[in-house]
Parts: sequence; structure tokens; C-alpha cells
Amino acid sequence: MSDILVHTEAGVCTLTFNRPDKKNSITAAMYGALADALQAAEADASVRCVVFQGVETVFTAGNDIGDFLNNPPASHDSPVFRFLRGIAQFPKPVIAAVCGPAVGIGTTLLFHCDLVYAGDNAAFSMPFVNLGLCPEAASSLLVPQMLGYHRAAEALLLGEPFMAEAALEVGLVNRVLPPTEAAGYAQSVARKLAAKPISSLIETKRLMKKGQSQQVMATMAEEGQSFGRMLSEPAAREAFTAFMERRKPDFSQL
Ligand code: COA
Repeated sequence: MSDILVHTEAGVCTLTFNRPDKKNSITAAMYGALADALQAAEADASVRCVVFQGVETVFTAGNDIGDFLNNPPASHDSPVFRFLRGIAQFPKPVIAAVCGPAVGIGTTLLFHCDLVYAGDNAAFSMPFVNLGLCPEAASSLLVPQMLGYHRAAEALLLGEPFMAEAALEVGLVNRVLPPTEAAGYAQSVARKLAAKPISSLIETKRLMKKGQSQQVMATMAEEGQSFGRMLSEPAAREAFTAFMERRKPDFSQL
């Protein structure tokens, strides 16, 4: 079985994180598969809408830490950056169904989705600082915009997780459901969208996003440069090694 499942039916392309034994953490190969699937979904006129989902217990634990240590993204064209540009610029509607932990990119990708449905067990976190890194996916721009600066500082400087109800309150999530119902609900909304005129959906999304699409792409590029550099610096090496060794990181000498 592939770590990313791609299934298209009734105009809806569903992308499923399918690596539950590793908490759906995302390797470079998985980013490549996601980027390719988005490209294909954009080109395929029969696809009207894309849905991201994990399983009922976990959306994704973010970047696969071992893979990131061994194969850090080396250039602008690395799979992770290809995926991020793909989702940020995807012209058709994108829905996410999120249950359980959504760590790092598992949360930041949601800022590029149009609709988000969460299980009441969803836990969102962006622990970049705790990993010796900095925000990605234009989250340094989009998180303060949506949450307000002080709540964004809690999420991004402290890296504190927040639950589905808090995400609903700030508008990151459209609706909170029992985990057993989130994916089904997302599919029913996707089918509703798929029955609407695609040209109107695309134009409406473009108009809503056009005001800051350049700023989003510029922020993403600047974050990507810093993130790429910081990955090989001592703080990130210590954080990642500590995760692999199942101990607390020690930043006291850094
Ligand atoms: N990268 C690589 N492997 C990961 C991973 C990640 N981001 N997250 C979890 N895993 C692996 C664990 O190493 C473990 O593997 P093992 O069974 O071979 O030892 C397995 O997935 C289960 O993880 P575990 O931590 O035991 O599950 P949990 O239910 O106790 O906790 C999380 C779940 C998501 C809260 C926790 O795994 C976590 O915090 N992961 C790291 C998240 C992170 O920092 N991501 C990077 C963002 S940039």
C-alpha cells in the first residue's frame, strides 16, 4: 500500500495520508506524491475538488524527522517546496478532514485549504521553534492574520497545541464533529461543491485570494530559505536527534 492514497470519484480527488504506524509523518517521497497528485488534479477537468484526510486517530505528525535529517530539502524544487507551492496556488476548492494530531505542516497546510472539518480529537500544533526551525508554508504571515498576534505567538513561539474547539473559535476550522464522522462530512461537502459550476468556483477562489497571493508566495520563499538553512544548524540537529533518542532536547549550550 502506498503512503499516499489517491482516489478520484464523483469529481472529488481524495488524498489520504496512509502511514499510520509512523503517525502519517511525511517523507520526501510522500511530498513528491502529493505534489504530483495536485498537479494531476489541477489538469484533470473531471476533478472539481480535492480532499485531504488522515485516519480517525491522526491527521499527520508533520515532516518525517529521520527523513528530514538524512535528506534535507536542498533546493527550491525539493518535493516539500513543490507541494507547498502546489497547495498554495491550487485553483480548485480544497477541503481537509482533520482528526487527531496535526503537527507542523499538518496544521500549516490547513491555511491553504478552503474548508476544514475537524474531529473533536483534533490537536493542532506548529512546534517549529521547539525543533530549532522557523515557520513554513507562509504560516508566519497567515497564522497572525487568522489568530491575532498574541495567540499566534503562543502557537508559533511557544509551539503550544490547541484543540478543535479553539480552532473553531478562531476560524481555522468550519465545524467540529465526532472523529467517526469528519471524513464522511468532508466528502458530502466535497460532492456538493463538485456539483457546482467549476468556472465559478475557480473564479471565486481566485478573487478571494488574489489580494495577497504574491505576498503568500514571497513569504513562503523567504521562510523556505531560512528553514532550509536552519535544518542543518545545531539547534535542529539537537532537537531531531533528541526525538530519535526519545529524550528531551538540550538547547542550553546553543
Ligand atoms: N517523524 C518520524 N517518525 C515519527 C514522527 C515524525 N514526525 N512522529 C511520530 N513518529 C513515529 C515515532 O518515532 C514512532 O515510531 P516507532 O513506533 O518506530 O518508535 C511512531 O511514529 C509512533 O509515534 P509516538 O510518538 O510513539 O506516538 P504518540 O501517539 O505517543 O504521539 C505525536 C504522537 C504525533 C504527538 C508524536 O509522535 C510527535 O510529537 N511526533 C513528532 C511531531 C513533530 O515534531 N513533527 C515535526 C514537525 S516539523
